[in-house]
Amino acid sequence: MSHPSKHLLAIEGLEPPHIADLLDLAESYALLNRSGKTQRDLLKGRTLINLFFEDSTRTRTSFELAGKRLGADVINMSVSQSSVNKGETLLDTASTLNAMQCDLLVIRHAQSGAPALLSQKVDAAVINAGDGTHEHPTQALLDALTIRRHKGRLEGLVVAICGDIAHSRVARSNIHLLTTMGSRVRVVGPPTLIPADAARLGVEVFHDMKAGLAGADVVMMLRLQRERMSGGLVPSAREFFRFYGLDAEKLAHAKDDSIVMHPGPMNRGVEIDSAIADHPTRSVIGEQVEMGVACRMAVLDILARRLPRNR
Ligand code: NCD
Repeated sequence: MSHPSKHLLAIEGLEPPHIADLLDLAESYALLNRSGKTQRDLLKGRTLINLFFEDSTRTRTSFELAGKRLGADVINMSVSQSSVNKGETLLDTASTLNAMQCDLLVIRHAQSGAPALLSQKVDAAVINAGDGTHEHPTQALLDALTIRRHKGRLEGLVVAICGDIAHSRVARSNIHLLTTMGSRVRVVGPPTLIPADAARLGVEVFHDMKAGLAGADVVMMLRLQRERMSGGLVPSAREFFRFYGLDAEKLAHAKDDSIVMHPGPMNRGVEIDSAIADHPTRSVIGEQVEMGVACRMAVLDILARRLPRNR
């Protein structure tokens, strides 16, 4: 089934075959990357612009690598938060990008909906690399690919997403993707960090880590996103760790072969203990980063198929 849109703005709205197609293609790019080969003819002559209005390490560099491995000309534009004057500035940016004849535009922005707005104003295919608390679709794809490689499937798995769910676009995209693919998703965290509409998203809500982790196949930890919180929603980092930080004792409630994930950046000793983050068999955090490059190659490939022919 071909991708339903010119852009990738969200996971919400994608159907199981669209997601499966992206994951299958990403799997083949993961193998290509491990073989050390590239496919530089695929995006030859195409221009990819990375437009980041928010900090990023993994996402920006992996889009850059993905674009380069497929042969695109990649330009990185980092725009500091302070110089951004939403609305008009974003639209001014759009006309600049159109003038540069950009083919693929990767955008991260603090405002939910900014990539969707831009997609109406530019000729390029737009990829959302994280918008406010809304979505981060390529993160959900790389998480799903990592899970599938370890568990062989997504359907029927119990996935516990833990910590600051309310401010997490990673959680929202993962919830949409995993429930669409038939996983049983739980969200685990203090009431102040669980969105009011959580149950509407088709997840089970837990406020106790041991109960939430019981029998889980996958434990996904999230950072406290203080930059998006208004007011103090958690008492202290030390207390948060005691109740919600993942350590060996809490992990013992999940399945013996459960995997531990984290999108990064990690705050060791706050949401995750170092011994778990670096655990040689249970932690798949490094593999998530590797799959990030493969998934972004798959997304660029699929969207490039719908672009007008090379100029
Ligand atoms: C996340 C993000 O920016 O949404 N990071 C990432 O892309 N890997 C998660 C976070 O900021 O905590």
